[in-house]
Amino acid sequence: MVGRDLSDALAARDEEFVALTRSDLDITDSRRVNAVIGEHAPSVIVNCAAYTKVDQAETEENVANAINGSSVELLAASANTAGALLVHISSDFVFDGASRVPYDVTDATAPLSSYGHSKLLGEHAASHAEKYLIVRSSWLFGVHGPNFVEAIRNQIRLGTNPLRVVADQRGRPTYTPHLAEAILRLARLAHDSSVARGIVHYADADECSWFDFACAIAEESGADATIKPVTTDEFPRPARRPAYSVLSTERYERLTGVAPKSWRDGLREYLTLRH
Ligand SMILES: NC(=O)c1ccc[n+]([C@@H]2O[C@H](COP(=O)([O-])OP(=O)(O)OC[C@H]3O[C@@H](n4cnc5c(N)ncnc54)[C@H](OP(=O)(O)O)[C@@H]3O)[C@@H](O)[C@H]2O)c1
Repeated sequence: MVGRDLSDALAARDEEFVALTRSDLDITDSRRVNAVIGEHAPSVIVNCAAYTKVDQAETEENVANAINGSSVELLAASANTAGALLVHISSDFVFDGASRVPYDVTDATAPLSSYGHSKLLGEHAASHAEKYLIVRSSWLFGVHGPNFVEAIRNQIRLGTNPLRVVADQRGRPTYTPHLAEAILRLARLAHDSSVARGIVHYADADECSWFDFACAIAEESGADATIKPVTTDEFPRPARRPAYSVLSTERYERLTGVAPKSWRDGLREYLTLRH
């Protein structure tokens, strides 16, 4: 999802880039990672690859750790050899969600799930690059992958009534083209100056619950759906989710001088593109 939107954003800006799919480069293959990075000699490497099946990770912890953790060590080592900046994407799931104020980049991490744990391993691995930028984001939706917006639209199409959606988890939905733009902006700054490196949060404005998000999806789609708020306990899933995973984007705003875009505007664009 993010990789394709990032490629589109780079193409639109006439930047020189190489976009690789899993079949071009399996990031768990150290020999290939070194060969491909050696061949292209990039000045910036953006790792959009990840194991993203949050619930499945509970039973596939080793696979999740290999892709989200160990592979990032390979990328960091290869970035150092190439003298490149490594940009790595991470997640709100590195936090436990016990806070009641937005998570800052310096706040302590404490993942609740195997997926969250694997993403934290990836952050530690990325920090072994001499030049690194970790962009944490949350609740992504975009046209190039399965996401919450599509799940809700499918339920509405199927006539599920009422539609039960969790109302006690809060976060910041983020439209992937908005994240792609933020990554480009941050990568440019981090490439040029060490002051802009380290961890940065980017998420769209403003915070809401999954229930609020579902209501907005129905409203913007012009669908006449009855949506019922439920609690996390009424909706058990294999992986525990943080109850409050609102990311503070203060550092992003300070570094770039730009405010995050609105997820509601992103949702409107998404629905237009889907039509
Ligand atoms: N989705 C969210 O809500 C969310 C929230 C916060 C952060 N993030 C993070 O954002 C980043 C991008 O997520 P996304 O939603 O764009 O994920 P996505 O759509 O699932 O894309 C992940 C890509 O990684 C590829 N991949 C998996 N294993 C690989 C390997 N060994 N080598 C090379 N490629 C591999 C996948 O290929 P296959 O499809 O062939 O497996 C897929 O194309 C990830 O780091 C994710 O953890 C996501």
